[in-house]
Amino acid sequence: MGAKVDDWPAWPEFTAETGEKSDDLIDYKRAIANRFGAEHIRNSWLEVCEQLKYITDDIASRGSAAIPEVQYDEFFTQSPEQRKKLMDIGCFAVRNVFDREQADAWFRDLKSYVEQNTGRYACWPQEAPYIFSLYYSPTQVAARTHPNQLKLSRELNSWWHDDSGASTPDPLSYADGFRIRPPGKSFLGLGPHIDAGSLCRWADAGYLGFYSAVFSGEPEKLDLFDLTIRQTADQAMFPGSAQSRVLRSFQGWTALSSAGPGEGSLLLYPNVKWVIAYVLLRPFFQAPLDGDMMDATRWTFEVESPWFPGTFKDDSQLLSPSSHPHLRMKECLVPIPRMNPGDTVWWHADMCHAVEAEHHGDHEACVAYIAATPSTKVNKNYMKQQAEGFLTGMAPLDFSRGVNEQALELYTGEASILSGEHGRQAMGLGLVAS
Ligand SMILES: [Fe+2]
Repeated sequence: MGAKVDDWPAWPEFTAETGEKSDDLIDYKRAIANRFGAEHIRNSWLEVCEQLKYITDDIASRGSAAIPEVQYDEFFTQSPEQRKKLMDIGCFAVRNVFDREQADAWFRDLKSYVEQNTGRYACWPQEAPYIFSLYYSPTQVAARTHPNQLKLSRELNSWWHDDSGASTPDPLSYADGFRIRPPGKSFLGLGPHIDAGSLCRWADAGYLGFYSAVFSGEPEKLDLFDLTIRQTADQAMFPGSAQSRVLRSFQGWTALSSAGPGEGSLLLYPNVKWVIAYVLLRPFFQAPLDGDMMDATRWTFEVESPWFPGTFKDDSQLLSPSSHPHLRMKECLVPIPRMNPGDTVWWHADMCHAVEAEHHGDHEACVAYIAATPSTKVNKNYMKQQAEGFLTGMAPLDFSRGVNEQALELYTGEASILSGEHGRQAMGLGLVAS
């Protein structure tokens, strides 16, 4: 059950005709072609498409079982081989990070916060709102700064290496929203996408440095955990409401109620390296007009089209089955395993994911969006502003729809921070002049 998305939702398919129209697009493409050379890019394309044959066969046959699960208590004593496997796949569930009583209490408190402040905050999507633009409820602040969350975040941050020594794995508590999704309502607002920017992956010098192995004909050498370069990438190069300014080593959900496949949960594509390599190369190749579309050798290299499939400057990187055919998305974008209260799920910053269009369950599916965020210079700059806003009643910079939560009922501010000084540091309070 729940092995794959049986009925592919009515998410948009991306075509050149409906693509972003902007004069500068072709320049980014030409600059990469000139710098790395058509032959290297083509070699990578063939290699990546070849690898994807095996990867997609494997995921299609295993479905949700391709997403690993680890118990919190066992997470920190894994062998190097086990850890490498999680890094290669790029996503996994960590179960029982919080005990059931704690998660239930947080959920009750969160619902009270929502209900007692009805009409005083934003919520989307408009037709059936369930994603809340609230960032500092007692539940969120506590769940972000709980010792188990901080320990897990630090561990996940440490999986990235920074050869420059400019950053540390010290966890930062990026303030994001939460959802309480009722059953029975369709939602098409979060189709397949990759966060951390879109066009900037081809336009920004830091990003290009990070991905250079892909364009230079050696995609197997792509190191998706090299923070040395990645920390300089500008995710918000092109302004947009979907762009997070911070680099999250792993994005994450903390479940506060149960939700299984088909119950409005998360879909992940459980491979990160070869999928992002494919997405990066895809704009440089034109599909054959007829015949076997999946034969990568029949695709032609071209830089005279400004089309970047699924790329819109002000949005996340979007994907669709027809624009990215070698990913076989209808078979390989799979539901995460059933989450229980206190479980978490994590996925790499470059991973393709989506939110299920339907919720066929019988109760609300609640998760807090809580990521692992390392202490890089860019992230600390953001956190300083976030902390100043927290102290003065301003919403986080990435979330313009937020309100002054200090004026809300049940708001407790700094009193909800757990883990003492570690929690305050994670909240960025140490970055604010006292
Ligand atoms: Fe996302």
